[in-house]
Amino acid sequence: RCRSLVSSTQQRTETDQAMATKKHQPNINPDEITTKKDAKRAIRELREAVEYHDHRYYVLDDPIISDSEYDQLFAALEALEEKFPDLQTENSPTRRVGGEPRYDLQEVRHPAPVLSLKAVSEEDDVRGFERTVKQKLNQTSVELVAEPKYDGLSIELIYVNGELTTASTRGDGYTGEDVTDNIRTMREIPLKLHGQKKDLPRRLVVRGEIYMDRDAFEKLNGRLEDSHRKPFANPRNAAAGSVRQLDPNVAAERPLRAFFYEAAIVEPEKEDTHYEMLQRLKSWGLRINQTHSKRCKNIDEFLKYHAEMEKQRDNLPYEIDGVVCKVNRLDHQEELGARSRNPRWAIAYKFESRQATTRLKEIDVQVGRTGALTPVAILEPVQIGGVEVTRASLHNQSEIDRKDILVGDDVIVERAGDVIPYVVGPVKERRNGKERKFSMPDKCPVCKSNVVMSDDKKNARCTRMDCPAQLRERIKHYASREALDIDGLGNRTAEQMVETEIVSSIASLYELDEDDLGQLEGMGKKSIHKLLQSIEQSKQATLDRFIYGLGIPLIGMQTSRELAQSFRTLEDVMKASEKTLRENVGVGGEAARSVHTFFNDDHNRGIVEQIQNAGLSLSNPFAGGEGPLAGQKFVFTGSLERWTRDEAERLVTSLGGQASSSVSGETDYVVAGPGGGSKLEKAEEQDTPVMDEEEFVAFLKERDAIEE
Ligand code: IVH
Repeated sequence: RCRSLVSSTQQRTETDQAMATKKHQPNINPDEITTKKDAKRAIRELREAVEYHDHRYYVLDDPIISDSEYDQLFAALEALEEKFPDLQTENSPTRRVGGEPRYDLQEVRHPAPVLSLKAVSEEDDVRGFERTVKQKLNQTSVELVAEPKYDGLSIELIYVNGELTTASTRGDGYTGEDVTDNIRTMREIPLKLHGQKKDLPRRLVVRGEIYMDRDAFEKLNGRLEDSHRKPFANPRNAAAGSVRQLDPNVAAERPLRAFFYEAAIVEPEKEDTHYEMLQRLKSWGLRINQTHSKRCKNIDEFLKYHAEMEKQRDNLPYEIDGVVCKVNRLDHQEELGARSRNPRWAIAYKFESRQATTRLKEIDVQVGRTGALTPVAILEPVQIGGVEVTRASLHNQSEIDRKDILVGDDVIVERAGDVIPYVVGPVKERRNGKERKFSMPDKCPVCKSNVVMSDDKKNARCTRMDCPAQLRERIKHYASREALDIDGLGNRTAEQMVETEIVSSIASLYELDEDDLGQLEGMGKKSIHKLLQSIEQSKQATLDRFIYGLGIPLIGMQTSRELAQSFRTLEDVMKASEKTLRENVGVGGEAARSVHTFFNDDHNRGIVEQIQNAGLSLSNPFAGGEGPLAGQKFVFTGSLERWTRDEAERLVTSLGGQASSSVSGETDYVVAGPGGGSKLEKAEEQDTPVMDEEEFVAFLKERDAIEE
């Protein structure tokens, strides 16, 4: 959990604080609680407190306790639930994360059909809407509510007796997909509605939009790119993809947000108006858009709101593609009903289009920061929403094929907010036969080395690690905290290093001296000294971090760890065949191929060798892990019948143990076959248990580590 306190915390009032201390910060020590009765009460208080602070933090954006105080509450709750397992419940805040991955999403039937809004783009149509509404209701004026039209994914939540039971996507309007496990991971979604029992609805079916803030979306994409995964095209896709994730643990890490805008069913009864209903949802802890939900006396006020929001559009943290106008009185809404699948009581007024049609003159290929090759459309310049657009993203080969885009086509281009314009698709009717197909080059346009293309044609990458286009980013990546953690080597320094040509690869970092670094702007003696020191320190690294730092296409932190788990040393990884990689590491064929291709490149091998010669010393904390042999160190000596030495060592590692080549004080067992020499002697010398092969097999069977 990454909570950073906003400034309002510092300005919190004393009453807030006193309140927080008394009711919302129960002082409970799990060790002192011994009876179930006390545990029950303590757990209830802690759950309420955690939910309360989640709400303050995520929904109200106004936390009143520090991160560590929050963590304490959470830890106390976890401890008590562990101590009294039968008091654990589905809707405890400790249970938000950790569902099992699924194979598919189940279908759920909506209790009432999910309609869709009629969307218009002309003022006249909006005025027409008001006229019809007034006519049908036989009223001279009708109050309206204006809201943003969010560009996300609609969601329906069902609360029974205040408890969240189901979350589902819209689907076809009648049945949607069950995404409860993913939605539960969002801390701004209450698992229990707030308020006293008497104020809670027996049943509530509430609808809203799940979306991602633009900032969070950019960061997420950065993270995905860093780990060589495919970024999302826009925040909407990112939100939709995350909500429909099969693995709730992945969904939990996605920065999803929600606004609720419709109470479809409220039992026993609704409020009188939509606006009051929104306030009610808010009181139950559901996030509504208070700032931008506005009551309008008539359609002129709504049109003003529309104009204002269109201006504001790019300043909002999230994307909206229009505004919605709703009749405020719920009895009026009911009277108006629906026509086909659109309610007659609401309409969406879209913003001016941000699309234009223009000629796709050429497709350029850019080499990005991790060596990713991206096709870029070179366009006949065109104005979109007051900005001249000359280039647009085409994402990847697979997208170009899917959309059937040809060079020379007239294409529709969209520019949304600050994001890079992209090609929506071709206008096929305008083809004249001179258009031609595009294929990604098989050589890098910058360094001319081979390009690897993923099977799905979504990722094309340059395979050479010192390709100048990538150098700066490679250095940054190598120095990053998750990799070799070279303090003082950030963005600006890496950029200058490449500009001044004092580095030509990550290996040349180890050749830098004071004079070289002296050439960099703003580097004093002290920082030079510090940087050289951190570069020196980075030579003592762990295998997984080093592999990750090399920036091998498709190999993120997780796979790097898996490689370190399966192979003891860097040499083992480097010499492994594609087949061995595929069979020994839980990675797919593409990742295996990528590792193999990478280490088979003489250039790349040379760079690794240079780093090794500079004094790289790798340890491997993953030679050992979880499993029946976890925490145990084995040494093999002599010849074995059943396995080769290598196989035996790998077996131990795969069972969570560690295999080492020499006997030390840390060795737990020596397995000796015939011909065991000095290692056997050493083991006997220091009283390390020795077993022969038969005993070793029995030892493994006893621990259910092998069968037969
Ligand atoms: S009210 C018609 N309010 O727009 C049912 N919908 O076609 C009542 N949407 O998929 C919907 N912002 O996900 C409503 N403020 C808002 C909305 C909104 C976005 C979406 C919704 C639906 C689509 C309507």
